[in-house]
Amino acid sequence: MRKPRIAILGATGVVGREITKITEELGIEYESIKFLSSARSAGSKITFKGQEYTVEEAKPEVFDNVDIVMASAGGSTSKLFAPEIVKRGGLIIDNSSAFRMEEEVPLVIAGVNDEDLKKHKGIIANPNCSTSQLMLVLEPLKRFGIKRLIVSTYQAVSGAGLAAINELRDDTIANLEGKPFENKCFKKPISFNVIPQIDVFCENGYTKEEMKVVNETRKILHLDENTKISCTAARVPVFNGHSEAVDIEFEKNITPDEVREILKNAYGVKVIDNPENYEYPTTRDASGVDPVFVGRIRKNLAFNNGISLWCVADNLRIGAALNTVRICKRVIEMGLF
Ligand SMILES: NC(=O)c1ccc[n+]([C@@H]2O[C@H](COP(=O)([O-])OP(=O)(O)OC[C@H]3O[C@@H](n4cnc5c(N)ncnc54)[C@H](OP(=O)(O)O)[C@@H]3O)[C@@H](O)[C@H]2O)c1
Repeated sequence: MRKPRIAILGATGVVGREITKITEELGIEYESIKFLSSARSAGSKITFKGQEYTVEEAKPEVFDNVDIVMASAGGSTSKLFAPEIVKRGGLIIDNSSAFRMEEEVPLVIAGVNDEDLKKHKGIIANPNCSTSQLMLVLEPLKRFGIKRLIVSTYQAVSGAGLAAINELRDDTIANLEGKPFENKCFKKPISFNVIPQIDVFCENGYTKEEMKVVNETRKILHLDENTKISCTAARVPVFNGHSEAVDIEFEKNITPDEVREILKNAYGVKVIDNPENYEYPTTRDASGVDPVFVGRIRKNLAFNNGISLWCVADNLRIGAALNTVRICKRVIEMGLF
């Protein structure tokens, strides 16, 4: 197995730092590695596997002799550099939404649709964080026929980057001290509040974030238009870890016990479901670890063959960095670079 020459683009950001950490955790083998940012952080130091690296400014020529780029530097940066990377024979695994819905770009959750990786033409997209955690839960249940899916998300501020994390902290302190605070990252104050808007509104009244869940779920699970999907996404004052209330109507009959059993054996999923003893997953259980946690599995009263469940995960890990590095690992194992 050939070892790739790797670059981490956006290495100084929230997701980039996680990618760096998980690259070490998953034991990714490489011939060389470099860390890239904008001019702002270029020159800063990153310690990786006990060795100090200087962060370089991303420019087209830094992608010479790079095989795999794990990118989390925003959509416009990815759009700028992806053609440069591909032109030089490299492969970009991109965290932004820039290419996700493009026909020839595989949109992949490792362990769910790895076969799609084989179709890549130099760009592989990592799904949106709220879509990502849901896919590991739905994939093993797909064989019962997903007829209707309704998702309500409760999303942490880390999903909006470093500035948003700081805004929750500073707004909370200002609020408790009775001082004024000007919110910049969010349209409304985030402390002690729930904001029913993530990203901008579309013509149909849904937000872009909500439509990402709808469209990306369909693409990853290869569901056709007969499966009806709806999502409401809210931002909550939690630092890290997204929660989702999920209602699924299946074609075939399926009981909560069957769902529990299937998910107990599913890749990347951990079931915590013993409500009598107050055992169900919360975001604090999920932050900093890999599994997608599922609990509150019950028969849904509004649908025929319906199941409701609660699902939480670390949005920076499975929702972004962990999946990126898992894809990188699969690409290396499958010899796709
Ligand atoms: N946060 C999440 O949960 C999450 C989940 C899925 C996907 N994503 C996506 O991942 C990307 C990064 O998110 P984040 O939360 O990590 O943001 P962030 O904390 O603001 O970090 C952004 C990173 O991109 C770099 N960057 C910005 N402009 C650049 C440019 N022109 N050239 C090179 N590097 C540039 C920044 O470098 P400097 O330090 O020099 O500014 C920094 O390293 C976004 O596309 C976001 O949509 C985030």
